Amino acid sequence: MTGDTATFGRSADQGMRLAIEEINAAGGVLGRPLELITEDDRSITEEARTAAQKLLQRDQVVALLGEVASSRSLAAAPEAQRARVPMISPGSTNPKVTEVGDYVFRACFIDPFQGAVMARFAVEDLRGRRLAILFDFKQDYSVGLAEFFRQKARELGAEIVADERYTSGDIDFRPQLTTIRAANPDAVFVPGYYTEVGLIARQAREKGLNVPLLGGDGWDSEKTVEIGGVAVDGYYFSTHYAADSDNPRVQEFVRKFAAKNGATPDAMAALGYDAAGILADALGRAGGTDGAKLRDAIAATSGFDGVTGKISMDEKRNARKDAVV
Ligand code: PHE
Repeated sequence: MTGDTATFGRSADQGMRLAIEEINAAGGVLGRPLELITEDDRSITEEARTAAQKLLQRDQVVALLGEVASSRSLAAAPEAQRARVPMISPGSTNPKVTEVGDYVFRACFIDPFQGAVMARFAVEDLRGRRLAILFDFKQDYSVGLAEFFRQKARELGAEIVADERYTSGDIDFRPQLTTIRAANPDAVFVPGYYTEVGLIARQAREKGLNVPLLGGDGWDSEKTVEIGGVAVDGYYFSTHYAADSDNPRVQEFVRKFAAKNGATPDAMAALGYDAAGILADALGRAGGTDGAKLRDAIAATSGFDGVTGKISMDEKRNARKDAVV
C-alpha cells in the first residue's frame, strides 16, 4: 500500500474491496459475509513474510489474497504453504511463485507467456531485428521476464545487441542508456516497475534514444505517465486487461470502480477483483473454510468469468489467459 510500488497494493486492495462488497450485498458466501483484512508490507520483500505470518497466526485468515509483486509473493508463499492456508496472488507473474507449493495459486498468466508476447510484438509487429534489454536485477519479476523475452526474441531471429541492468531504487540510468544507444537498437525492452520505468523513459529521450521502449505489466500504473510525462508517449507494454474493452462485464466493472474510487481501474485493480471473486466462488463450492477442501476447490476453478478474462487453473495452479498490448 506504500513504498516503491504502492499503486500495485492500493489498486489490488480497491479491486478486492469492490468484489467483496458486491458478494456481501448478494448475501455473502454460504450465508456469511466475507471480511477483508489488509496488511501493508511497504513494498519490502522481508516484510511480506512478516505480514503473511500476522494474517495467518494473529488473524487466522481462511485464505491470503496477495502479494502483488513476484519477489514479495515468493517471500510470503512458504508461510501460506506451511500453514496449509490457500494463497492466491492476483498479479505475481514469475513462474517460481506457484512452484512454492500446492496451496499457492495465481489469478494471472505467467512470464514465459508474457515475455514471448512482447518478443513477438517487437520482432513481428515492430520489425525489430536489433533489440536491447534493460532490466531490474533486484526483482525476480524483471530478471525472469528479461530472460523469457531474450530467449523468444533470439528464437525469432533477432539479435540482443545490449543487455544492461539496474537495481530497484536507482535514479540515474544514463550509463546504461549510453551503452544501449551506442549499440543502435531498433527497440529496448524494459521489464521493470513504474517508478524506474518513468525515469528511464525521460533519460532515454534526453539522450536522444528515440526508438520505442517496450515493457510488461509492471508499467501498468497511472504513475508511469505521471513520472514519465511525454517521454512515455508512443511506447508499448503488455498487461492483463484493457479498461476500454467493449466487453459489457468489463464496462460494468469500470463504471462501479470509478463511482467508488474516482479512478479508472488499472490491471492490478482488475486482478484484485478477480482474485477475490475466484476465492468466493471456491469457498462456495468447498462448502466451508477447511484449508484442504478450499485448496481443492480453487484448483478446480474452471471458466470463472473474470473481468481479466475467463479463468481456469491449470495443473500448476496458474491461470491461462490472454494478454493485451
Ligand atoms: N507481474 C508483476 C510481478 O510479478 C506485478 C504486476 C501485475 C504489476 C499487474 C502490475 C500489474 O511482479
